[in-house]
Amino acid sequence: MSITFDKSQNSFILQAKNSTYIIKIIKDKYLSHVYWGGKIENPVVDSIIHSAGRASFSANPDEDGSFTLDDFPAEYPSYGNTDLRMPAYQIQLENGTRITDLSFDSYEIVTGKPKLEGLPAVYTEKEEEADTLLITLVDKLIHLKVVLSYTVFKEYDAVIRSAKLINDGNSNFKVLRALSASVDFDHYDYDLMSLSGSWARERHVVRRPVVNGTQSIESRRGASGHSENPFIALLSKDATETNGDVYGFSFVYSGNFLASVEVDQYKTTRVVMGINPFDFEWLLEQGEFFQTPEVVMVYSGCGIGHMSRTYHKLYRNRLARGKYRNAVRPIVINNWEATYFDFNADKLKAIAKDAAELGVELLVLDDGWFGKRNSDNCSLGDWYVDKNKLPDGLKALVDDVNGYGMGFGLWFEPEMISPDSDLYRAHPDWCLHVPDRHRSLGRNQLILDYSRKDVQDAIIEMLSSVLSSANITYVKWDMNRNMSEIGSALLPNNRQMETAHRYMLGVYHVMETITSKFPDVLFESCSGGGGRFDPGILHYMPQNWTSDDTDAVERLKIQYGTSMVYPTSAMTAHVSAVPNHQTGRSTSVDFRGDVAMAGNFGYELDVTKMSDNEKELVKKQVETYKEMRELIQYGEFYRLMSPFDGDFTAWMYVSVDKRDAAVFFYKVLTTPNASLFRFKLNGLSTEYEYVVNGEDTISGAQLMNYGLNMPTDLAWGDFRSKLFRLKAK
Ligand code: DGJ
Repeated sequence: MSITFDKSQNSFILQAKNSTYIIKIIKDKYLSHVYWGGKIENPVVDSIIHSAGRASFSANPDEDGSFTLDDFPAEYPSYGNTDLRMPAYQIQLENGTRITDLSFDSYEIVTGKPKLEGLPAVYTEKEEEADTLLITLVDKLIHLKVVLSYTVFKEYDAVIRSAKLINDGNSNFKVLRALSASVDFDHYDYDLMSLSGSWARERHVVRRPVVNGTQSIESRRGASGHSENPFIALLSKDATETNGDVYGFSFVYSGNFLASVEVDQYKTTRVVMGINPFDFEWLLEQGEFFQTPEVVMVYSGCGIGHMSRTYHKLYRNRLARGKYRNAVRPIVINNWEATYFDFNADKLKAIAKDAAELGVELLVLDDGWFGKRNSDNCSLGDWYVDKNKLPDGLKALVDDVNGYGMGFGLWFEPEMISPDSDLYRAHPDWCLHVPDRHRSLGRNQLILDYSRKDVQDAIIEMLSSVLSSANITYVKWDMNRNMSEIGSALLPNNRQMETAHRYMLGVYHVMETITSKFPDVLFESCSGGGGRFDPGILHYMPQNWTSDDTDAVERLKIQYGTSMVYPTSAMTAHVSAVPNHQTGRSTSVDFRGDVAMAGNFGYELDVTKMSDNEKELVKKQVETYKEMRELIQYGEFYRLMSPFDGDFTAWMYVSVDKRDAAVFFYKVLTTPNASLFRFKLNGLSTEYEYVVNGEDTISGAQLMNYGLNMPTDLAWGDFRSKLFRLKAK
């Protein structure tokens, strides 16, 4: 068992692969957070806990005046009984009071990991892979029960937490806040890392010192969003890719979230994470429960890289699901940047035919194939083929494309509705809206009210009918605006603040239904690029369009940041035309290829317009990628040089047996008369010698301790790159 209750110490000891998490029951009532960090086999709990007996203005919850919860390291802090820091939850009773007082009631340790009904979650394939601790806390006065769940995997340094709030009383509760996890640290000597950005500039790494007061990242957009990813990490000041303590928090959810770090008067740090309490309320009637989504907490005692590799493995193998979870992904060509809305069947077939000759494996038909959609101002919701563009229908096109030896994928934006659509004319109340208020458009569209069962059913029906109509083996599921005027026509007044979360539950239900109904389809999620690149969606769709920004230089930062949490198999990356459509920058096809090959590779350009010479280069890229794609998509990933630190970026992939590796080196701008430069590799075996690009044989020790010199032929020119293939002898 990786979880035990040590009776003599009144403590729960949770042992992950190389880390330990300890909880102690204090005064037979309070759950104290004792420890989370490197492995301690036989912890002496009382020598870890220390009470400073500090003076403060805080009150004492018991008769014993020496104790206050305000400096108590808590597992699930509440509001109203002396802890004045951020609470993890808050309940309002019908009489208006917001005070709760939870006491330890009981616990259960189960093998495996119970399902979170209706929510995305990490799972076990065999029960023995993990144990779960369920601790029940009770407020006897009002009969509120809270069940805290902690899962520990034997093979991962992860503790997975969630909470279930149960109304066992005889009046209704209003849940004002229901976060998933809270962790108290005994000092504040940390940096805070987040992945922040915007559309076309997603998931840039931001690192800043943790200081007194509260620092938060959050989304109020109705989606996880482009601007902040539902992830933070606390890093010891000395933490680098290969050194230091790292505590990662990743939220398995795709809607509004909050991750907050509070440093209090004693310079201790509290981290909380969960559904954003902003514009959230949940009516909990008698006998009902509210289940929070889960937070995956990863500890690394050896730097940021190890944290990332833990997330990669766990998310690739035990969050993503389905046929493609561990299958190599096809090389696609997507027609979006090639044609935008201006295409017909002949144009698509020409692209598919030429691409097939170069070894590309699947054509994705993007936006514009349905309704009357010649621009982005109409037809979302009218999911029937536009016969003006595809006169013989979808099946004929798919058959032709299949005839070239190519698979076929199709774009949908199933959560949206255009005011100019037959669907909207028939059901004007099917969108999120507030009575008598203006319905603000984003990209000329409104959002379907997925909290409604009738809307969910209608969309399931429409998608099913298109997907069954032809041999479609790939779906790109897009979502192109965030929420405004949030309200649902079917929810009663006192449940309107549930809309955004109910919307997310509806999205998960539709995704679950469609992906189970079409298990042979590879689903790619997208939200104007990476606007919903989060662990929640990854549970249903194993890959995500990383960013609408296909500029290779910009992609270095975007892909580097994304790799903090998400595995390469989840990241799609395409070579597009130059000058780049997002930045106007021109780079060589080699450079663009080397950047895109560091993800799930594909193209997003009009291949019919390429010169023979360019086509030859593409053909070579496709061959190169096919030879190493399993390594890229499923190998262990090591970041070597950060694009945020200068003009050089490098990263590498190592096979599990360490016999095969691929190293990508990129230079953005050149420096004349530059100093000598080398970079060290990582993750190789010191037992092996490696043949580098079929030429020199160099030991693993030399490659990791001395490194590789920057190739002299790269000294000249901007936007240069090189791929090193390493094979153990
Ligand atoms: C936004 C996506 O990110 C693009 O790749 C493309 O699919 C467009 N939407 C189509 O409208």
